[in-house]
Amino acid sequence: MKKRVKNISRFSGLSYQDLLDQESRPVPQSLRESTETYLGSEPLSVDRYLSREYHEQEKRQLWPKVWQSLCRETEISSAGDFYVHDVAGYSIAVVRTERGDIHAYPNACLHRGRQLKSGSSAGLGKSRDITCPFHGFRWSLDGSFQGAPCEWDFPHIDRSNFDLPALRVDTWGGWVFVNIDGTAPPLHEYLGIMVDHFERWAPEKTYKALHIKKVLRCNWKIANEAFIESYHTAATHPQLLPYTGDSNSQYDCFNDYVSRTITPMGVVSPHVRGTTEEQAVHQWLTVYGVDTEEGLPELPAGKSAREFLGDMNIRRFSKMYDQDLSSFVTHSEVLDAILYSVFPNFAPWAGFRPNVTYRFLPYNDSPDMCTMEIMLMMRYPESQARPRDATEQFVPADQTLGDTPGIEAGLAAVFDQDFSNLPFVHKGLRSLQSGHIELARYQEVRIRHFHQTLDKYIHPEAGETK
Ligand code: FES
Ligand SMILES: [Fe+2]
Repeated sequence: MKKRVKNISRFSGLSYQDLLDQESRPVPQSLRESTETYLGSEPLSVDRYLSREYHEQEKRQLWPKVWQSLCRETEISSAGDFYVHDVAGYSIAVVRTERGDIHAYPNACLHRGRQLKSGSSAGLGKSRDITCPFHGFRWSLDGSFQGAPCEWDFPHIDRSNFDLPALRVDTWGGWVFVNIDGTAPPLHEYLGIMVDHFERWAPEKTYKALHIKKVLRCNWKIANEAFIESYHTAATHPQLLPYTGDSNSQYDCFNDYVSRTITPMGVVSPHVRGTTEEQAVHQWLTVYGVDTEEGLPELPAGKSAREFLGDMNIRRFSKMYDQDLSSFVTHSEVLDAILYSVFPNFAPWAGFRPNVTYRFLPYNDSPDMCTMEIMLMMRYPESQARPRDATEQFVPADQTLGDTPGIEAGLAAVFDQDFSNLPFVHKGLRSLQSGHIELARYQEVRIRHFHQTLDKYIHPEAGETK
């Protein structure tokens, strides 16, 4: 028998916190935190997305000063493994030394500047030392100068002062981070609340099962901003509405660098009417392409879609990870979209489901193009050897994710819907006569939060970053 469900709304029905009250297992404190931040309602100038001058300011005042995620620690696990990271015309080489440390250097030879390492398409490689391909100047993996051909011709070089300059490196959750100019707060202070929040989800115990790098014809911030609000779901992703509490999402702004959206799943959107709980389950199974082996199931009497899908995912993931999740994992952690962002461009999902992590970067040193990386982070049975991390698949601007191997069709369709907006946002901004955009005060608060932090880098005279 079909049951009508009461649509929930953040304002008139069940909030995400109300849904947590229905959990049968203890809810972690991290999910109970709710900041309800109001950061103002001023319009935002379009120059910050479009102008070359603003892009150049970001190159000088933003990218060198922030912590940037580079790669997984496991991608440079052996001595000589290296990874090249390019951002806005600047290149960083990160290497694993003989002693097992991670060092990062500006990717430039101290002789005449040739890049020391050039990434393959995957940005990965291996070497016993760091030898410049141009004339053969050589450094050990720990950056100490080893010599140069015809060194008699360089009597003016002080050998003891010719090591590669080391950049600040730190790690968190299995990720390697680098700070170029060395003045950022320590990484764990920068990450703030995230360090405690993610302790339970242990991202260091995941491996990268898929890595897509998609070129987009828009400013990198436009792409970033399309993934930190769920307000666009009703217009852009209508197929998700039967099981997505889009307008019931919770938005949190923690310190200057960390914010979060939690969008509840397994509940019917307040934007649709007449959807039953059973239809919600069926649509979820269809979009995610989950095979229940018995076709579309009947929903047992008295069970909500959220309970059914939450229980099902706990069973599925327990089997997948060979770990019994049923005693301690909440439905929220196997079902909801729990998406954190670390300023300016790194966004890991949280919980115990296979989670994606995003990264956004300017492309070709242009304010008009960017890349979005989509990395699928998977847990695996602890009794098994860690699977190898996937190498990067480059997806040009004209190729859809639907035409890209390795990504599940329902998920690819959602990303392609997002991508279908982005070039037109960029183009549309050029035609805005007002010269500014408007933001929702709550559902787009993370965009405002992002720009308020960005302003502190671009106009430091106006306020300190904290
Ligand atoms: S530029 Fe590197 S050895 Fe000459
Ligand atoms: Fe979207």
